[in-house]
Amino acid sequence: MNLLWTSEEMVQAMHARPVGRLPQGVTGISIDTRTIGRGEAFFAIRGERFDGHDFVTKAMHAGAALAVVSEEKLVMFGNLQLPLLVVTNVLGALENLARLARQRSQARIVAVTGSVGKTSTKEMLRAALAACGKVHASAASHNNHWGVPLSLARMPQSAEYGVFEIGMNHAGEITPLARLVRPHVAIITAVAPAHLGAFRSVDDIARAKAEIFAGLERGGTAIINRDDRRFRLLGELAARAKVKNLRSFGARKGADFRLQSAELLAEGSVVEASIAGQPVTYRIGAPGTHFVANSLAVLGAAATLGADLAKCALALAGVRPEKGRGERHRLRIDGGEAVLIDESYNANPASMAAALAVLAATPVAGRGRRIAVLGDMLELGRSSNRLHRALKKPIETAGIDRVFLAGEKMGELARILHPSLLAGHAASAAELERPLAASLREGDVVMVKASLGSRFTALVESLLKTYPAVGKAVG
Ligand SMILES: Nc1ncnc2c1ncn2[C@@H]1O[C@H](COP(=O)(O)OP(=O)(O)O)[C@@H](O)[C@H]1O
Ligand SMILES: [Mg+2]
Repeated sequence: MNLLWTSEEMVQAMHARPVGRLPQGVTGISIDTRTIGRGEAFFAIRGERFDGHDFVTKAMHAGAALAVVSEEKLVMFGNLQLPLLVVTNVLGALENLARLARQRSQARIVAVTGSVGKTSTKEMLRAALAACGKVHASAASHNNHWGVPLSLARMPQSAEYGVFEIGMNHAGEITPLARLVRPHVAIITAVAPAHLGAFRSVDDIARAKAEIFAGLERGGTAIINRDDRRFRLLGELAARAKVKNLRSFGARKGADFRLQSAELLAEGSVVEASIAGQPVTYRIGAPGTHFVANSLAVLGAAATLGADLAKCALALAGVRPEKGRGERHRLRIDGGEAVLIDESYNANPASMAAALAVLAATPVAGRGRRIAVLGDMLELGRSSNRLHRALKKPIETAGIDRVFLAGEKMGELARILHPSLLAGHAASAAELERPLAASLREGDVVMVKASLGSRFTALVESLLKTYPAVGKAVG
């Protein structure tokens, strides 16, 4: 059995007090009993809604090898004779283990932050680097104060590459996480209005993202977006953080990882780029200019880490859009098919623009139409109304035939969209289910996008129920 950690290592690293009969070690780390694997350690983390201590017995039944619990809560397990590691603070213990994982590792490490594209870029890095060595990457969007230490503590000693997503809602959040990860390469994908509620300006968001530089290893490389409006500001912040190696990606002149040309196809893109002077041509198996942009950062990072550029580039053909982030379904409808693009996971002005452009580039069949189903972009603070109204233009230029809107904030857009475009505006996504399903026909391409909190994921599920998927559409 392959152990991730021995119990002895955990005791040492976490200053833990062992209780009960401990196993020799654990095969993994979990904080969630719904996904825990046999032989893993269960860390009883306290979240916003739940306290992991209430799930310890469930974790043990699910096959956990041991649980890490807080001294304060020990009475809950007094008579159960469970294998426990008792600590003063469970999250602190996880951080300590994460620190040891980083310390013992020989892996080349990349950290990814940004307002959009963190997970897409992280998954693209996983795919690219896997062609060159053993990769460990964060799961899902585990990018916050527990997600980062969890991802790091899960890194096996044998990993040759480590890829970590780092996110934030507030200034000051990224610094300690970046210092934990200590990346050799730090990428900032893009800076855009997202979680603007907690910030005065987009410049302030850039400053918060730039905190990632604080964690760079000595001699490490920062990679920033040459086409971003905050490129110059980020460059200054990198200099202030004493970053020695600053590189950029993008289409503009001067970018180190530079786009030469991109052919944008419905199911992906064909790209020619120059990566630190090396010409490379590759396919990306996910459509949209945003994936093209992300791929430049990915290949730039891979080359910086010393990976084989040609192998990494080749692997990008296997990248697919993820669930809720552009995943495509072919719906069976009227004896024919329609395409559903599921973008229900997230929305802010940058990703809306990217998704509308993908919809524009997706061909319809026969009498089919391009249909956009859009919900509120949340956490945009005072600029919210303006940013919702600003969607009018990209919608009009994208060759979209019908627009369904839901949510209070989308009311702003509903008021100014041309009536011939607007199929309807409802208070909630649920109310769009019937009219949308009734209006679909063969040949249509439907794109559903909103912030997660707007509950458009349920709308996607209901469409999939009404019109069972024939299979995943290519791309
Ligand atoms: N560089 C980019 N610019 C604009 N939108 C992007 C970019 N990369 C990804 N997206 C889109 O943004 C949304 C969120 O992507 P994701 O990779 O999950 O970002 P994050 O992890 O930063 O939340 C998806 O709809 C995705 O297709
Ligand atoms: Mg993410």
